[in-house]
Amino acid sequence: MEKYGFIGYGSMASMLMDGFLKTKILQTGQVMVSTRTKSRLEDLVEKWPGINLAENNMQLAKECKYIFICVKPLEVKGVLDEIIDFLGSDTHLISIAACVTIKDLETVFPGQITKVIPTFISEVGEGISLVCHNSQVSEVNKDNIEKLLNTISTVSIIKEENFEIGADLTSCAVGFIAGIFQEFVEAGVRQSSLTRKEAEQMVRSTLYGTAKLLCEKDISFNQTIDRVATKGGITEEGVKVLQKGLPFVFDTLLDKTLGKHDKVKAMVRKQFGTEL
Ligand SMILES: NC(=O)c1ccc[n+]([C@@H]2O[C@H](COP(=O)([O-])OP(=O)(O)OC[C@H]3O[C@@H](n4cnc5c(N)ncnc54)[C@H](OP(=O)(O)O)[C@@H]3O)[C@@H](O)[C@H]2O)c1
Repeated sequence: MEKYGFIGYGSMASMLMDGFLKTKILQTGQVMVSTRTKSRLEDLVEKWPGINLAENNMQLAKECKYIFICVKPLEVKGVLDEIIDFLGSDTHLISIAACVTIKDLETVFPGQITKVIPTFISEVGEGISLVCHNSQVSEVNKDNIEKLLNTISTVSIIKEENFEIGADLTSCAVGFIAGIFQEFVEAGVRQSSLTRKEAEQMVRSTLYGTAKLLCEKDISFNQTIDRVATKGGITEEGVKVLQKGLPFVFDTLLDKTLGKHDKVKAMVRKQFGTEL
């Protein structure tokens, strides 16, 4: 039985493992995990008895054909150096680390590598997983990993050069959307006698319904605006404010996040000894 290993057991690895086990695309006996702080695995073992716990990253590398690297970007090089001697020619590495390029990874492991940016909302079976395979990945393995990710999300295969902006529009966007609507709630509270709880309930429900409408009816943002913001009406006034102020906000946001990506990428490149 081919095993799927997860190195690192943080927010993303727990979401992925839990999702793959819940959808039953993987059985507990097929899954192995290795992480730094072993006490963190207690809940996992209680929820999924039968899951394999590795003594260390090397044991996991020896036993697993598919290895998900789920540690932070600056921890990836150390993990790879530790496991490289235990990887076989048929090993398939799946890195979910932001800012670590396929070229970085190939300097240590010249085999099958897939880069994935998952999203926290796949915890409820939603969202896009960004995927890019290197030229070594076999068609069977591409299909296998994409099938796995499709059980908890929608796979989007994109060029690696678009991963940073793609991550902003998917994985990071979950935080951005929460941040935007938190401010909307606060403004509602400032300008009324509503409690924060009441205002948040109104916005949450509206957000959920708007997302449902957009997806289920497959209508665009512009069509939605046209339906709600009647000419000369109240909503139109609000939409005009957004259209005036938000381009600056979002351009600044992307400048900042892309700048941060560049900084982390430079640190990662230094570790791997790779050039741009
Ligand atoms: N969070 C997101 O929404 C998101 C989205 C897309 C991609 N990502 C990427 O996913 C990766 C993981 O993010 P995360 O949010 O899950 O981080 P996290 O919660 O900090 O998890 C990282 C895990 O790696 C473990 N670890 C660190 N060094 C290790 C080592 N040498 N050997 C084994 N385990 C080790 C940590 O152990 P300890 O418990 O001891 O700290 C922790 O369990 C990052 O590279 C990030 O760029 C994250």
